[in-house]
Amino acid sequence: MEPLSTPWGVGFMAWALEADLSPLEAFLEQGPSLVVLSFGDVTRAAAVAHEAGVLTGMQVGNAADLERAMADDIDIIIARGAEGGGHGRNEAGTLPLLQLATSQHQKPVIAAGGIGTARGVAAVLSAGAEAAWIGTRFLSATEASGHENMKSAVRNAGLDGTIYTRAFDIAQQLPWAPEFGGRALRNEFSDKHEDLSGWEPTEALRKQMIHARAEALTDIAPVYAGEAVQFVDAEQPAAEVMRELGGFRQILADAARRFA
Ligand SMILES: Cc1cc2nc3c(=O)[nH]c(=O)nc-3n(C[C@H](O)[C@H](O)[C@H](O)COP(=O)(O)O)c2cc1C
Repeated sequence: MEPLSTPWGVGFMAWALEADLSPLEAFLEQGPSLVVLSFGDVTRAAAVAHEAGVLTGMQVGNAADLERAMADDIDIIIARGAEGGGHGRNEAGTLPLLQLATSQHQKPVIAAGGIGTARGVAAVLSAGAEAAWIGTRFLSATEASGHENMKSAVRNAGLDGTIYTRAFDIAQQLPWAPEFGGRALRNEFSDKHEDLSGWEPTEALRKQMIHARAEALTDIAPVYAGEAVQFVDAEQPAAEVMRELGGFRQILADAARRFA
C-alpha cells in the first residue's frame, strides 16, 4: 500500500483488540499519526501504539471514561456524546461531556456526537474543543463506501429518525458489552425489538440479519447514524461538506462582534 501523504488515523474497538492485537499491529506498520482506542480496556493496545511512537486517543462517554483517559497512555480525549452515530455509551450529551473534559484542561479534547453543521463546529470550539470529530455528516459523501440503499435512507431521515439500541448486536450475537449499544436509523426491526425483555434471538434470525446487511435491506439491517443525520440531504463530495463546515470561522467572528 502507498503511504498516504496527509496525516491519518484509525479508530479501533478496544474490546476486539483485547483478544487479538494483530489488526492494530498491521495498521501501525502503515505509519498512522493517531490510533483511537475506545469501548473496552485500552491498556495493552495503548502501550503498543506508544512503543511504535504513535499518538493515542480514546472516545469517552462518561466521567469514569474521562478519568481513565487522563492516564499517561492516552494523548487525546474525544468527548463523544450519546447523540453520535454508531456504537458508544448512551449516557452524557456531547456538550455537558465536552464542558467537563475541557474544564480539566490537561489534554487536548476533541468533540464528537451530533455535530453536523458549521454552527455545531462553532459551538464545540467555543466550549474549548480543539476540533470536531464527525462521522454521520459524511455518510452520504460521494467517497463513502456504503450501499446506495443505506445512503438514501440516511438522506431521508430527520431529527427523530434514530434510535439507540442493542437489538442489532443481539440479533447478530456480536460480543459488544451491554453498555455499548449503537445509534442507528429506526427501522422495522428496531421498532419491533425496542423492548428487549424476554427476547431470545435464534440462529435463523442471525442468518437473516447477515443476509439483510449483505443485501443492504434497510428495513432490517442496521444503518448506523447519529442525530446529525437530519443535516444529510444530498450526496456530496467530502471536500464540499468540509467547505460547508468551514463556515464556523465566520460564525465565530460574527459572535465575537455581537458579544464583544
Ligand atoms: C457508520 C459509523 C461507523 C463507525 N465506526 C466506528 C469505528 O469503527 N471505530 C470508531 O472508533 N468509531 C466509529 N464510529 C463512531 C465515530 O468515531 C464517532 O464517534 C461518531 O461518528 C461521532 O458522532 P456523529 O456520528 O454524530 O458525527 C462510527 C460511526 C458511524 C456513524
